[in-house]
Amino acid sequence: MKKRKLGAIEVSEVGMGCMAFSHGYGKIPPEQYSIEAIQNAAAHGCTFFDTAEVYSPNLSGIGHNERIVGKALKNVRDDVVIATKLFLGFGESMTGVYGAVRRHLEGSMQRLQTDRVDLYYLHRLGGAPVENVAEAMGKLIDEGLIRGWGLSQVDVDVIGRAHNVTPLSAVQNIYSMVERDSEKAVIPYCIEHNIGFVPFSPIASGLLSGKITTETKFEHNDDVRNWVPQLSKANIAGNQPIVDMLKRFADMKGAPPAQISLAWMLHKYPNVVPIPGSKNKERIVENLNASEVTLTDTEFAELETELNKCRVYGHRGFSR
Ligand SMILES: NC(=O)c1ccc[n+]([C@@H]2O[C@H](COP(=O)([O-])OP(=O)(O)OC[C@H]3O[C@@H](n4cnc5c(N)ncnc54)[C@H](OP(=O)(O)O)[C@@H]3O)[C@@H](O)[C@H]2O)c1
Repeated sequence: MKKRKLGAIEVSEVGMGCMAFSHGYGKIPPEQYSIEAIQNAAAHGCTFFDTAEVYSPNLSGIGHNERIVGKALKNVRDDVVIATKLFLGFGESMTGVYGAVRRHLEGSMQRLQTDRVDLYYLHRLGGAPVENVAEAMGKLIDEGLIRGWGLSQVDVDVIGRAHNVTPLSAVQNIYSMVERDSEKAVIPYCIEHNIGFVPFSPIASGLLSGKITTETKFEHNDDVRNWVPQLSKANIAGNQPIVDMLKRFADMKGAPPAQISLAWMLHKYPNVVPIPGSKNKERIVENLNASEVTLTDTEFAELETELNKCRVYGHRGFSR
């Protein structure tokens, strides 16, 4: 697969979001299936895997997903980039931010069966001033425990404050054809400062695959699609022109709609590395193959113009 850089860290142009093997999209697959799906993606050329300490069924407990990722990748550890994330609770860092961050990191490293984390994100702001977290991350980089660090769901003011203390490798925000807040200031800042931008939920939780209709039933337990704003019945109907437009391009290019939506962001920005998520081995490979779909400048311009004409129904933004 083609490669891109997140700061100094080289990764495949499309990564893999591993969350749904533990949380967020209903029933989780048997562990062996998840392990094989991750290994299959690695064999296909994916070198960038995204997890977080909190990804566990119903977000109760810690580390379910990290354990799966660790088991799956232990034999190819030196060939892949593992990104994970920590939540810093209020009060946790009373005795020092570095100590608190390091405790989280050690737990993650143990579960991931590794002696370093390639990319360590603060999952959400909270627990401590971002400058103090940046300082702690700088120390962990100096100690060789992490290669780079990142922030998730942040605006450009926070990114600037953090980057001035310890340069960031990546920012992971929600971004897709229907969540474009980061285009205004965050992505331009990241390009200017050599920071990678990692879109999460790049397929809008499935909407942009064209497989979701107003009749689609989501699962009752631990399924974010019940509250993702673009996926309410009314908003699925409202967003249909975007899906139809993607399907038109998909027919023209002989590629599925999800791939077109990923190819759109890859064409648009040189520092973007999406991490689509799926519980399905075949769809994981389909999404990775978006790296093979090349849009011409004219095709991209047409797609962008058509998209800009469409109203988006539902907005998640940086708040969740
Ligand atoms: N930093 C953060 O706060 C944050 C928040 C959310 C997610 N993330 C990360 O971002 C990753 C991706 O986000 P996400 O999973 O929420 O959203 P996503 O990648 O936009 O969409 C996932 C959904 O789309 C479906 N899907 C994916 N590819 C498809 C395809 N080719 N055809 C048909 N359906 C397809 C999946 O269903 P199937 O499983 O049935 O294929 C699943 O329901 C996560 O795994 C996680 O690592 C980070």
